[in-house]
Amino acid sequence: SMEFMPRITRAQSMDVLSSQANLAGYQAVIDAAAEYDRALPMMMTAAGTVPAAKAFIMGVGVAGLQAIATARRLGAVVTATDVRPAAKEQVASLGAKFLAVEDEEFKAAETAGGYAKEMSKEYQAKQAALTAEHIAKQDIVITTALIPGRPAPKLVSAAMVASMKPGSVIVDLAVERGGNVEGAVPGQVVTTANGVKIIGHLNVPGRVAASASLLYARNLFAFLETLVDKTTKTLAINRDDDLVKATMLTDGGQVVHPAFIGKPAVMIASAEPAKPAAGEKPATSRKLAAPKSLANKPKGIA
Ligand code: NAI
Repeated sequence: SMEFMPRITRAQSMDVLSSQANLAGYQAVIDAAAEYDRALPMMMTAAGTVPAAKAFIMGVGVAGLQAIATARRLGAVVTATDVRPAAKEQVASLGAKFLAVEDEEFKAAETAGGYAKEMSKEYQAKQAALTAEHIAKQDIVITTALIPGRPAPKLVSAAMVASMKPGSVIVDLAVERGGNVEGAVPGQVVTTANGVKIIGHLNVPGRVAASASLLYARNLFAFLETLVDKTTKTLAINRDDDLVKATMLTDGGQVVHPAFIGKPAVMIASAEPAKPAAGEKPATSRKLAAPKSLANKPKGIA
């Protein structure tokens, strides 16, 4: 199962979660722009000025970073939030403003694997208070927040949606995992009573299908290369290899993956992604330590 590929340096070219999340982040902005009935960039014309759209990105992992980059390229004024301290600098380096409750809990919110933890009720209340005021002033809100092995955190309440101006657009990229936005419906574009559109498209990478296939195929190819013996040119699966151990679900007719031994197959979809092996540094810092290059590269941040 490719989504269990460890996020270590050696496996970056096989990281399907990143290759697809990157496209989802891009497409979320394109979908928002399509539903939004105003222009995104500021335009000063003889007939008057069109103000720049204000876009707020909630959750800045792989998808959120690409959403920031895409919204900036389209000329929106972009702010972003996350619970992981590492996100702060990445947001700034993409030319967006960071907004978050930066208390002691925030400083400890990142796991060793580079993922977010589920935040306490107290933190969530502080976060809601801070973002509520901000969301009321936004034209576009894109949410991407996920916590491994947990339902997506609820970040945008119905009251926050109701506080937005008519014509505003929200994209909930977490809709398949329970959703970040109250009122988002999987697979639908909902228009609320006050005229706010909530986009809940499923399989968002599939909306840029050719690019998604291109990158997914490259991910698969990079992995398959490691399973072939270079001299004999035959399949040679090394069961001690971390990449094989993390991704192999069954072997010789038996379930072998530690996460699924004795569990029904449906649990595969909700399992936590693989963590880097002990002593192995997560690729997180390496890859995202250079977000400047990300800002300059219009295609493929992953
Ligand atoms: P994800 O898809 O699990 O979550 C998306 C974002 O939501 C994360 O940034 C997370 O911190 C954020 N989030 C969770 N709860 C939140 C809340 N209550 N409020 C606001 N934001 C919240 O994350 P993804 O995209 O898989 O990335 C996880 C980490 O791994 C990141 O540090 C990412 O940069 C890093 N990474 C590194 C890679 C590499 O170097 N190969 C590849 C992919 C990710």
